Amino acid sequence: MSEPFRVALSGDFRKPDGSPVYPDFDLEPLYQAPGIEFAYLEPRNPVQAEQLERFDALILLAHRFTKDSIPPNGRLAVVARFGVGYDTVDVEACTNAGIALAITPDGVRRPVAVSIITLILALTGKLMVKDRLTREGAAGFARRGEYMGVGLVGLTLGSIGIGNIGAELFRMIKPFDMKLIAHDPYADRGLAAELGVELVRLEDLFQRADIVSVSCPLTPETHHLVNAERLALMKPTAYLINTARGPIVDQRALTKTLQERRIAGAGLDVLEQEPPDAADPILQLDNVILAPHALCWTDQCFAGNGAADVRAVLDVQHGREPRVVVNRAVLETPVWKNRLAGLRNRFG
Ligand SMILES: NC(=O)c1ccc[n+]([C@@H]2O[C@H](COP(=O)([O-])OP(=O)(O)OC[C@H]3O[C@@H](n4cnc5c(N)ncnc54)[C@H](O)[C@@H]3O)[C@@H](O)[C@H]2O)c1
Repeated sequence: MSEPFRVALSGDFRKPDGSPVYPDFDLEPLYQAPGIEFAYLEPRNPVQAEQLERFDALILLAHRFTKDSIPPNGRLAVVARFGVGYDTVDVEACTNAGIALAITPDGVRRPVAVSIITLILALTGKLMVKDRLTREGAAGFARRGEYMGVGLVGLTLGSIGIGNIGAELFRMIKPFDMKLIAHDPYADRGLAAELGVELVRLEDLFQRADIVSVSCPLTPETHHLVNAERLALMKPTAYLINTARGPIVDQRALTKTLQERRIAGAGLDVLEQEPPDAADPILQLDNVILAPHALCWTDQCFAGNGAADVRAVLDVQHGREPRVVVNRAVLETPVWKNRLAGLRNRFG
């Protein structure tokens, strides 16, 4: 029998007792697929090259994948990230080694857009404070009039980034009758027009938006893109939401802005340091809602990411390009083309 197509799952998919961390990630299609074998790696972060020597594919959760994770034998063909962020992966090293990096935008699109809307509604509806007031009994009820919520009709929602998630946010927020603006230097202008979104300069977005939401990737260009100067442009009644990556926001500057109550509040699913130090002053503020980089984690999100990764791996096994590849340049290289042709011969 010919050598199977061997798939590794990074060690962080399994608890110390061997059970899966995320049971909604359905591995059944891998069990069922002819010619596939799969195994969990020991949890090592970053993933080590010697762990991957006998594998064709890696499904990668949160562990880092560096140039030292790549076995020199040239067998590994695809790294399928469980999610869409890939700041944990050395993309250039993958490209140089002829490895495709696949991601799962279909899995996260709706769940992250829902997370942003959750934060918008919780912040403007004063959900957290009203929960506290209720638990205080009569004293809390007596103070409820001090915490008036903010209606959304006619307010301006500004998204930094109108990609997979930003566009979904705009689609889903439609019935709230807000004005929609976005800043994205690489925007699909046709899509923006179709969604009724006005594309604006970054500074204009900070000045005009009642809610500024961050949905761009973390890159050298976007590191601390939300800084003290831009926060100073925001209206005192405006809210900042970040569900993308912590370091896009200068958290020290945001903390100061919130401490001085120069904006109305913030909703953060991501922080510059995760988990934060217990002494991080942002944890003391009552005008911020925090989540542990997990607001989008639902059964459906994990099932969706898993299904997309399994599809990517099976595509490569059969000599097909995975649907969403980050380093598309790799698809033009002779190494990759030969790999796919070989796999088509064996499994196609
Ligand atoms: N909190 C979570 O659990 C979670 C889950 C999934 C994704 N994310 C984050 O959300 C980010 C967005 O995901 P996506 O699927 O929409 O990615 P995407 O690549 O489809 O969209 C990102 C958009 O940002 C734009 N962009 C790039 N540089 C920019 C800049 N300097 N200014 C403004 N826009 C810029 C791109 O042109 C693109 O349109 C991811 O990179 C990831 O970091 C977080």
